[in-house]
Order: sequence, then C-alpha cells, then structure tokens
Amino acid sequence: MSTPPQLNPVPEPVPQFDLTAQCVSHGVGVASGTDALILALRACGVQAGDEVLLPTFTFVATGSAVSALGAMPVFTDIRPETYNLDPAELVRRVTPRTRAIVAVHLYGLAADMDPILAFAKARRLPVIEDNAQAIGASYKGRRTGCFGDAACLSFYPTKNLGAYGDAGMVVSSSTEIAARIRTLRDHGQTEKYRSSEPGWNSRLDEIQAAILRVKLRHLSEWQIARRSNAAEYTRLLQQIPGVMPPLESEGFEHVYHQYTIRTEQCDALQQHLAVQRIGGTVYYPHPLHLQPLYAPLGHKTGDFPHAERAAKEVLSLPMYPELRKDQIARVVEAIADFLKC
Ligand SMILES: Cc1ncc(COP(=O)(O)O)c(C=O)c1O
Repeated sequence: MSTPPQLNPVPEPVPQFDLTAQCVSHGVGVASGTDALILALRACGVQAGDEVLLPTFTFVATGSAVSALGAMPVFTDIRPETYNLDPAELVRRVTPRTRAIVAVHLYGLAADMDPILAFAKARRLPVIEDNAQAIGASYKGRRTGCFGDAACLSFYPTKNLGAYGDAGMVVSSSTEIAARIRTLRDHGQTEKYRSSEPGWNSRLDEIQAAILRVKLRHLSEWQIARRSNAAEYTRLLQQIPGVMPPLESEGFEHVYHQYTIRTEQCDALQQHLAVQRIGGTVYYPHPLHLQPLYAPLGHKTGDFPHAERAAKEVLSLPMYPELRKDQIARVVEAIADFLKC
C-alpha cells in the first residue's frame, strides 16, 4: 500500500532563540537600552572624570550614557567598510584616564572583537558591548553579547526584538556585575528597604517582559527572514554600479537590524525613494563628535574622516522580517531608476 501524498508538509521547526546560549550566565532586565549602558558602565567602575573610548559613529545614547555618569566620551573613528570601531584607533586615543571601552555592534554587525579584547586585556580595561542593534549576531561562531564584561540590549519597539514600549537588559558572565546591576536598578537596595549606594528605579516593566517572553520565541525565525531579505537585496543591488551593499565578512553573521547601503548620492536618492513612498533613513547623519552636545570637547570636521564620510553616504532601506521579495524588487528598481541603470 502506497503512502498518501502529504498535502501540507510541516515545515522544519526553527530552534527557539536562547538569549544566554553559548555564553553569558546572567541577564538583568532594566528599563531601556540607555539605562543598560549607564548601569553597565557604572558596574564596571566608570566614575565622574574617567574617560571612556567609543566610536563616534553610533546612536547618541552610547555617548550620553557615558556623559550621564560625569565621565568623558573619547571618540574613535570607524572602519569604513563595517561602520564599526576601528581597533587601531584605541591605541591612538587611550590615555592614563581611560577607564573602559564601549564596542558598538552597529546595524546588526559585530565589531571586530578580537583586537578590541586583546587591547583591553593588555591595558586591563573592561569592555562593554553596546548590543542594542545586534541581538543574535555572531562573531567567529559566538554571539555578540558574550565578549565583553557586560553587554547591553535595547528592546525599543523598532529593535529586532522589540517590546511595546521601552525595555532593556544587561547580560554578563560576571556574578558581581550582575548583582551590582540588580542593586543599582532598584535604588541601591541589597535587601528590602536597605540601600547601600545611590541607585534609581530601572526595573523592566512586567507588561514589557511578558510581551518580550512571547516574542523571543520568534526571534530565530525573524532573524532567518531578515538574512534572507538581505541576501535578496544584495543579489539585486550587485548589478547596480554606484551602490555598495553592506559587507558580511567571513566569521561575521549580520542580523540586519538595518540594511544599509552606501552611495555618494545619498540625499538625492533618499528624496527619490520618498517620492515613490519608499522609506530610506540615514542612521546617523551627525557623528557624535560633531553633535552640539559635544561641542565643548572642541572637535572639528575632519577629526574622524571615515565616520564623517559614512554619515554623508549611508542610507538604510526598508528591512523587516515580513518584507516580500516583490517589495525588495520594487525598492531596487527605484534605486536603479534613480541611477539610470
Ligand atoms: C546603538 C544604540 N545604543 C543604545 C541605544 C539606546 O537604547 P534605548 O532606546 O532602549 O534606550 C540604542 C537605541 O536606539 C542604540 O541604537
């Protein structure tokens, strides 16, 4: 007797995403990614007057978390092809007052952690990963968030794992750092109504936690969908001269929080796409060293040329797991039409 044909084959289940798999032993929920950074910096010993090394090409929260502690951000330039911190810059910018390094995994791509960690180890500096944009990304087979003394996640609604409001988390393998963050996020209380140091309320809201708990089950399949969309964009864009798709080198697994292209005609292309009702966004048009906030540091145009050039040339295209192939084709056609290919 022959077996009846299976009409609706059951798809292979995607393994559920384990937030702390392969690496960290603690995850402490906090109120936002910004709070996660402030708390992680503080738990790693950063105090007023200290210097903290970080890339100038990032969302302002990376720098303002340092400033919130009265410490001073010391900016570094980026590698132009990855948009992430150039490890060679650390040697140039370190001083005796340097107290920590923040490595940002921008757009969902890991920073080059090996040389950053080697430098940090030689100087005995803690490393904090700003993993707000890169949950699930990998570097040399290990997930981002596993490399630093602590790593910070944002669950802001637009993130790859987004709550319905603000939420964040610090992950760490250090029991001491995790315990300190648990204390600091709860008014410095080590036990009920007994505070040992100044803290504040940065608890992760219960409703957001419940939503994240459900959404976490889908993160692996969303990540696969984002990567497949990115592969389709890259396949089509490779035929268009004048547009540089994002780089994913051997050993790096990008999670495409943003799919960011590079073109010298970024502003005009953005306007052309807007006319066709296609959203293109520049993350970020002003590197931190040129923000009015940091004018007192005395930086000028030309100080960090790779970051400044990237700020003028990057454009992030629509990217989300549910994006369809025909929609990607329409975006790429609009780009080709603009460049008259
Ligand atoms: C790189 C980076 N760091 C930090 C943050 C801050 O996270 P939150 O908005 O949850 O405070 C963000 C959020 O956009 C971010 O993109």
